[in-house]
Amino acid sequence: MSKRAYNFCAGPAALPTEVLERARDELLDWQGKGLSVMEMSHRSDEYVAIAEKAEQDLRDLLSIPSNYKVLFLQGGASQQFAEIPLNLLPEDGVADYVETGIWSKKAIEEARRFGNVNVVASASQYDYFAIPGQNEWNLTPGAAYLHYASNETIGGLEFDWVPEAGDVPLVVDMSSDILSRPIDVSRFGLIYAGAQKNIGPSGLVVVIVREDLLGRARSICPTMLNYKIAADNGSMYNTPATYSWYLSGLVFQWLKDQGGVEAMEKRNRAKKDLLYKAIDASEFYTNPIQPSARSWMNVPFRLADEKLDKAFLVGAEARGLLNLKGHRSVGGMRASIYNALGLDAVEALVAYMAEFEKEHG
Ligand SMILES: Cc1ncc(COP(=O)(O)O)c(C=O)c1O
Repeated sequence: MSKRAYNFCAGPAALPTEVLERARDELLDWQGKGLSVMEMSHRSDEYVAIAEKAEQDLRDLLSIPSNYKVLFLQGGASQQFAEIPLNLLPEDGVADYVETGIWSKKAIEEARRFGNVNVVASASQYDYFAIPGQNEWNLTPGAAYLHYASNETIGGLEFDWVPEAGDVPLVVDMSSDILSRPIDVSRFGLIYAGAQKNIGPSGLVVVIVREDLLGRARSICPTMLNYKIAADNGSMYNTPATYSWYLSGLVFQWLKDQGGVEAMEKRNRAKKDLLYKAIDASEFYTNPIQPSARSWMNVPFRLADEKLDKAFLVGAEARGLLNLKGHRSVGGMRASIYNALGLDAVEALVAYMAEFEKEHG
């Protein structure tokens, strides 16, 4: 078998090798049926069983209560930026948003197209190096919902706490940290996550929504964006992204085999601790984020001299350490260390960083 590189891409991100191997083995002939999952009718008994098992495994992994629907939709997380206000924000209502970086900003901009948005707090006051505490938030009494992004994939800023929303439904963009550690789903009205980090292939978005929030869509809400219609049709109002859904199911099975999100938490903690420790111990690499708000999944860092960035990336690639270039809006480096990457990947990265520092520091 050809050697697999360590892929630190922020998304589409590394998938577990075992998952890809199983998909390869089943590609032409799924379990003796003589056809690929890609070629199955989404209404067939076989495919419905694949889809239902994926949902059940996700429910098991996150202990999703029975009064929540799990939807497998299309359009990525970005489509949710519009879908959420179209479904949950009445014309005369107010939606509260917390702004902690590029993704929450995009959600805010999109929601403004549909109604009144109140930005309750912004991490801009801390140059995006820290998250304002909830005592600093200017919440709207009776807001339609409160939205935040639990992990800002680009800035590397992550909540290590869940906001207190009272009776207001809490809506969270969990695209880049879902399944990285246990969560209490009952704290949320709606959780959404683009698949291409910790779930599966891009294009798919998973929405976990409390049942009482269904049926509130505005009359202008397109049929395809209406959560209730999606829920009533088992996410098959139209032809779903069948293969992506199947692959996500293989990832959920893999996660269960690994010991679930509790095991992931342990492994992810070890990974991020090792990497931040290496950064903090060096005079050459820096990450400016306040320690309690540092992302477990996306670790941005800078070299002491940005003129060395290119050499760093070339050397990394030669060692099979791929996609370490930071987002174009931030520069520097970023190591995305999602579930599919083991501690060995971070050990290889840290060893290379030390070697590079010795040579150029
Ligand atoms: C936190 C977050 N939200 C939203 C998105 C947008 O996802 P998509 O490209 O699936 O629309 C991303 C993509 O990287 C993300 O990291």
